[in-house]
Amino acid sequence: MKKLSPLHNCFQLLKVLRTFLGKRRREKRNKRNLTANYQYDISKFSVFGCPNRNFKTRGHITAYLLMLAHSIEKGLSFTNPHIWFGWDKAVELARHSKNYSDKYGSDWVHAMCCSALDAYLKAFERATPPCQIELTIIKKATQQSPSGITSKAGIKNFKPQEFNFGQDVDFNRFFTTRFSVRQFANKSVSKECIDVAARWAQRAPSVCNRQSARLNIYPNDELGARILSCQNGNRGFGHMADKIGIVTVDLENFLSIGERNQAWVDGGLFAMTFIWALHAQGLASCCLNWSVEFGHDKRLRKVVSLPQNEVVIMLLLIGHYPEELTVPVSPRRPLTDIIRYHI
Ligand SMILES: Cc1cc2nc3c(=O)[nH]c(=O)nc-3n(C[C@H](O)[C@H](O)[C@H](O)COP(=O)(O)O)c2cc1C
Repeated sequence: MKKLSPLHNCFQLLKVLRTFLGKRRREKRNKRNLTANYQYDISKFSVFGCPNRNFKTRGHITAYLLMLAHSIEKGLSFTNPHIWFGWDKAVELARHSKNYSDKYGSDWVHAMCCSALDAYLKAFERATPPCQIELTIIKKATQQSPSGITSKAGIKNFKPQEFNFGQDVDFNRFFTTRFSVRQFANKSVSKECIDVAARWAQRAPSVCNRQSARLNIYPNDELGARILSCQNGNRGFGHMADKIGIVTVDLENFLSIGERNQAWVDGGLFAMTFIWALHAQGLASCCLNWSVEFGHDKRLRKVVSLPQNEVVIMLLLIGHYPEELTVPVSPRRPLTDIIRYHI
């Protein structure tokens, strides 16, 4: 075997040392970056969210009212609701809904509060209330219900057998024919189709029915190209889609520190339901990740004007299918990898 010179050994050692130091530097830089990015999220959440419940904006108080009204209708939907369950919340709802309508006028939020309280009073009208004075406050609130607004909270009867689950729709076909599409026809998607999909997507569950997700739709023109240039996963096909969606979530809906990551859950559920709703109308879509550092986020916000209190969840390409296309098979993990029965 050839003997290596001391100089060569020295070079080798230096190389190892350089690799080691480079790795250490990268690790340190990544850690700093991670901290800075979390700091960005923290400052957004603490400025625009409302973890201390010191309601400053209409968005904060609306979220709180939605939460309270939902707790009433939720309780009423139990098999045997406790008589006058959640009394304090009902009183709080009555007080805050009055403040809300005094400040912002009587709109769907106010109508929803009044109707939730009305349903609550009717459910227990024969029972003695915990406090007469507070009962008057609740009663008064329900009497202020605005007319002509159909946003009603409360409970309704639902007979599953009347829906015929799965009998009119081939759900297997529906679920197994959605793909992320990266080829689109040169055809416009109508606003009506987007509206229908958005309305269906509104049926997605959201934390306490606060419905924090927002949908921004852009044409894929010059502006579209600039939006897509901020995203790293659409090269080679993004330009073909007719429209671009940006799903955002309004942080003003989150009222506790525990909800710091809720935006991504509610926004994700909304986005997925929207995608199914497009699919149900024969429209094609492709999710585009917004897994970016804050610099990218700021860059996108220079291209499009998005409210500072909203975080971007993901982007979407929307379009019509071409006559024929190819899609990746994208095999799924075996069921045994993802499901654990603990029964
Ligand atoms: C949050 C999210 C971000 C995604 N981002 C991209 C993207 O940037 N570019 C892309 O081509 N596909 C993107 N996809 C699509 C995935 O690659 C695709 O959903 C996955 O491979 C499964 O394929 P399927 O959607 O056809 O079933 C994204 C999907 C999700 C859910």
